[in-house]
This record gives sequence, C-alpha cells and structure tokens, in this order.
Amino acid sequence: MTTRHFLTLLDLTPDELKKLIRRAVELKQIRNNGEVYEPLSNQVMAMIFEKSSTRTRVSFEAGMAQLGGHALFLSSRDTQLGRGEPTEDSAKVISSMCDVVMIRTFEHEIVETFAAHSRVPVINALTDDYHPCQLLADMQTFLEHRGDIKGKTVSWIGDGNNMCNSYINAARQFDFKLQVACPEGFDPNPELVAANSDRVTLFRTPEEAVHGSDLVVTDVWASMGQEDEQKQREREFKGYQVTTELMDLANPDALFMHCLPAHRGEEVSAEMMDDPRSVVFDEAENRLHAQKALLEFLLVKPGV
Ligand code: CP
Ligand code: NVA
Repeated sequence: MTTRHFLTLLDLTPDELKKLIRRAVELKQIRNNGEVYEPLSNQVMAMIFEKSSTRTRVSFEAGMAQLGGHALFLSSRDTQLGRGEPTEDSAKVISSMCDVVMIRTFEHEIVETFAAHSRVPVINALTDDYHPCQLLADMQTFLEHRGDIKGKTVSWIGDGNNMCNSYINAARQFDFKLQVACPEGFDPNPELVAANSDRVTLFRTPEEAVHGSDLVVTDVWASMGQEDEQKQREREFKGYQVTTELMDLANPDALFMHCLPAHRGEEVSAEMMDDPRSVVFDEAENRLHAQKALLEFLLVKPGV
C-alpha cells in the first residue's frame, strides 16, 4: 500500500475528510469521558519546527502521548537540518526511525520533497502556502456549533496567505462558498482561485465579503517570515479589521474564527475576540482532537 501524506486538504477525499472530522468529535468525547485509548503505543512522531509554534506543538505532542505514542521535538536550530543537510537525506534518515513526521517550514516544496523521500506519512504543520491541520480544527468547530458546513457561506478577511489558500481548498472539499476580501496586492494564490472559481469570489471590501456569511475568518496581517513588513502591512490593511460592527453585517448566527495567535487592535478588535460569536478557543482546543483523528487515520490500519 502506498504511504498517505497530508500536505494539503486535497490529499484526502471529501468523504475521508468528513469521516475524519466526525471521528475528531468522537475522540474529544472519549477524552472528556476520561477513557484511555492508546492505539499508537510504541509509535514515534518526529516534529520538525523551522518556525515558532504554541498550538501545533502542544496539540501534536499531547495528542501523540494521549494515543499511547511518543513525539520528538526537532528544531532546525539544534539539528543538522539547520546546517544544510539536504531535505532528501533527512527524510530518508528520520523516516527510517520514526512512524510519522510532522513539519512546519517555509517553502511548501520542502514538505513535498520530504514526503517524496519518506517511507512514513508526512504531515504539513504549516508552510508559507498552506496550513491544512488548522482547517481540520476549524471544520470540526463549525460542525460542533452549527452542523454541516456544506452549502454555507464563509468569509475570509485580510491577507490572502497560507490560511486563506487552505480555506479555498476547504471550500472545494467541504462544499461551501468562500467570499474573500484582501487589499490589492494581497490576494490568495491566483491559480488556486481560478481553479475554484465556482466557489470563490474576491472582493475589495470586508463589508461586501461578509454579506450573507455564516462564518467570518481572519488571520494576522504579517505571517511568520514577514516580520520586516509588519509596519507597512499595518498601513496597507487599514480598514480590514474584523470588529463587532463588521460581524453585524454577516448572518445573525455567524461565527468568528481565527487560527491564533491574534493581534488585538490589528486584524481583529479586542471586543470581537471576546464576543459570544467568537469561537477561537474552541477552535484552538480542536487542534488536539482533529489531529488525533488525523494520526489515527494515517497510522491505524483498519482491522489491526
Ligand atoms: N494556529 C497555529 O498554528 O498556532 P501555532 O503557531 O501556535 O502553532
Ligand atoms: N498565517 C500565519 C498563521 C500562524 C498560525 C503564519 O503563517 O504565521
């Protein structure tokens, strides 16, 4: 059987994704009931971080421990990865000793190259282009609060970044409409937009993009690796803050999500973060449950 990877949401079929999200809800219940479920005993995950993280590291490491396995934290600062050892060689070596590899890095090609030379599943834990693990948690959160997202309308406000690109893939895989509002020059990947033009519409004002929306989502204006552009971006993204007033223009039962970390007073107001429509902390917790479902999907063979 060929090794399955999770580099973007397109690596799983819509049906597999739907089942995985439902399984995440079950795994959350299992944990809340205090039941022990350890199908990954004796399995090891390598976690390669070339960028910072709180949620991704904690959720994968805790998730692996809860499933009975073990997780290794590898930063580029103190492994040979940071000293120029080729990705291909690192993939062969690490995948010969571990059962699954999670990578957070810069260029998306790095995770593709790693996966091409890995004998075990590789999970993309964020690249400059995509953040698919976050979308699993977001889809679980919507399901828990509002039911099936199929046929709903989602608004993306702000930078057309890795999260926005993953929302475009999610619109296709989970079958919803996506209304994107970015300042000129900050649109998401144009090929991705063109390939999904039946579901994705670009606007220039947040007000237009939130009209008729069931879920409003934003993210930081300067992502990791763009720290030098922070000040300039604050100027360019003026008017793109998600506020309670902007949310009032969406549907009355619309939810607000943000992958976190959030910059209150920039892409989101402090008031909006604490608003009852904001589910950002449920969303963060669901990283744990959704990724446990992903690990189970990739590592536990049916009937074994
Ligand atoms: N949302 C997210 O991926 O958070 P971290 O950067 O803290 O992992
Ligand atoms: N777009 C952000 C997401 C952080 C979880 C970044 O890449 O830094």
